[in-house]
Formats: sequence, C-alpha cells, structure tokens
Amino acid sequence: MNPNTDFIPFAKPVLGVEEEEAVLRIMRSGWLTTGSETLAFEKEFADFVDSPRALAVNSATSGLHLALEALGIGKGDTVITSPYTFTSSAAVVRHLGAEVKFCDTTFDSYNIDPIELERVLASTKNCRAIVVVHVGGLPCDMEAILPLARRYGCAVVEDAAHAFPSRIQAGYAGTLGDVGVYSFYATKTITTGEGGMIVSANEKLATRMATMRTHGIDREVWDRYTSSTPSWAYQVMEAGFKYNLPDILSAIGRVQLRKANGFLNERRSIATSYDKAFSGSPGLTIPPRGEGHAWHLYSLRVDPEKAGMNRDTLIEALASKGVGASVHFIPLHIMPYYAERYGLTPDSFPHALSLYNDTLSLPIWQGMGADRATRVAAAVLSALDTGRR
Ligand SMILES: Cc1ncc(COP(=O)(O)O)c(C=O)c1O
Repeated sequence: MNPNTDFIPFAKPVLGVEEEEAVLRIMRSGWLTTGSETLAFEKEFADFVDSPRALAVNSATSGLHLALEALGIGKGDTVITSPYTFTSSAAVVRHLGAEVKFCDTTFDSYNIDPIELERVLASTKNCRAIVVVHVGGLPCDMEAILPLARRYGCAVVEDAAHAFPSRIQAGYAGTLGDVGVYSFYATKTITTGEGGMIVSANEKLATRMATMRTHGIDREVWDRYTSSTPSWAYQVMEAGFKYNLPDILSAIGRVQLRKANGFLNERRSIATSYDKAFSGSPGLTIPPRGEGHAWHLYSLRVDPEKAGMNRDTLIEALASKGVGASVHFIPLHIMPYYAERYGLTPDSFPHALSLYNDTLSLPIWQGMGADRATRVAAAVLSALDTGRR
C-alpha cells in the first residue's frame, strides 16, 4: 500500500503473521469452539484490566444483554442510557421487556451528562440500571455517575465497546461499574472479527452471565469434555442463550491483546497530529480530550457557517481526495423505532442531535502511520479552503 496515493479507509483491522499462526494452531488442534484458548484469553484479559473475572462472548451486544439479564432487568423496569450511541446499548433493554429512557450528552465529552442524569433519575420511576457509553474511547465521568447511581439504587453497566484500553486513575474503563462490556468487532481497537468481553467483580453476576452465555447449562462444553464426570451429563438450569466466543477467535484476541498498548500509542500519536493540524482552524472543534482516551474514534466537529461547508459536504470532498470518513452516531432518538415508541422528536435531545449533525469521524487505526495522518489532515484543510473561496 502506498501511503501517498492509496485510499485511506476510516478504519482498518491490523492482523499479522502472529494472528495467522494462532488461528492455524487452533485449526490443527482439533478443538474449534470455546475451550482452553478462550479460558486463556479470559484470564489474560482479566489480568490486563485488573478485574477478577472476564467472560468472552460473541459480541458486545450479547454481553450487554447478559449483563442486564443478570441484573434482573425485566418488564416494568426502566434503564437509562444516552441517545448518542449504537442501537445495542438500548436494544438489549427492549429484549428484556424493560423500557429505555434517554439522557442527553454533554459537549465536554460526548458522553452522558451527569447533571442531566440527576434530573432524569429524579423524574424516572423504576429505574434499575444506567448503561453508560464511553463514546469514542473517552471514559465517562464515573466519579460523578457512580455515587448518583448508588443514591437512586441503580446498577451501572459500562458499554465499553469503544473503550479498550482506556485507563484512568480509578482503573480501566469497564471495571468501574457493576459490569463492563468490550467489543472486538472488526473496527474496534483490538479485534477478533466479531466478539466481546464482559468483566465484573460481582461473583454472583459473573456466575449468572457465565451460565446464561451457554444455554443456561450448568457446565461449560470444555469442562464436559475434559473432566472425569461423563461428558454427556449436564443440567439446563435456565432458558439461556448461545453467546460464547470460539477458540479460533480467542486465539486472534490473545495476540491482539499483547499488542494493545502499542496500538494505543499509535492511535494517540495520530490524534495528537490531527489536534495540531486542526487547532485554531476556523469552524473546526477538535474532539474532547481527557484522561485515558483509547482513541477508537477521532470525531471532529464542523461549524458550517465558520467552516464554509457542512459535515456532509466535507465527507464528500474527503472521499474525492481518497479519504474515508464516518459518522458517529445517528442518535437513537431520531431512529424510527425509538422515536415512535417514546414519542420523541429530534429536538428532544439537542446535544446528541447537534453532535450528529456536525461531527465526522476521521481515519484512525494502528498501522496507518504519520504520512497517512498528514494526508488526511491536509485533505480536510484543503477541502475547507476550497469551500471558503
Ligand atoms: C457504543 C457501542 N456499543 C455496542 C456496540 C455493539 O458491539 P458489537 O458489534 O460487538 O455487538 C457497538 C458497536 O459498534 C457500539 O458502537
């Protein structure tokens, strides 16, 4: 690939020979589904984020579903989350028959606004949990959120799909609430193609999630085939799900995990170079910074009046210059399902709407390199220059 001329995608998984060799090792081992490789991945991940327990799952969506199920969320309950997120954060609430209540974001972080959260909590009956989303990899204000949640008797589930590895003084994002869920989807900071990881320090919740992850069966398949008790013997304790992560994918995850800190450094240096290029440029607002940013996304805000063009035109101009860009997020309150179910209008959550209207996510991936980052920044600035003329 030529960094000076080739199309620069918005995201790109970076997998090397080590990942290839790890997959071959599993393919040749004769054990493809969840087994010793996944157990090793869970142990290594738990050690990395300093959590007593990690459970590998086939997606973050499955992990969020398991988390809320283990917390006993169901019909008659309400769960608060931000509309500025992917549908999974809210859809899992509906899977369990509970209702979603949205709480707007703050421009300071693009995350749920703790001041607004207090107001929403005070006016919400039967709120049992808050799903906080560390948008783009910038941790939410957990110092404000956790005591609030405690005061209102709500559990906190961290949607850390974007937030690996995001470390703040109190610990890794994902380990600060009752349950944390990470995503290893293809565009995420470490990937297994599809996959996710749940962490929790609450043994009771972890045990429930582990059982429900595999059909509600009391023994893991691996345990059945390796223990001295006959392999056919198991008990179905609940009507569970099929959310386990197979060993082939865990093998990729273990290699990616070893590279995670290096990936983070590369992402950080791309974000710094973008910040330098865009700071002071009329009409552009660089993304909020803060402790422990994982830089899954670099989301730039465009003020159409000052920048001379709106976000959509800028994305088109970038595409013509060989640069991919994306939009995070189309807020849930303007999606037909949530708008209709809860009678919401675009103005119901003005911050989430404004972020959606004016923000674009620029390419940021390990292996992208300084030259491509320079090309992206130059493409943004020259597009705006042309727009102003
Ligand atoms: C904030 C957020 N939460 C959850 C998910 C779901 O992740 P997965 O694709 O692993 O289910 C995503 C997916 O991109 C996401 O952006």
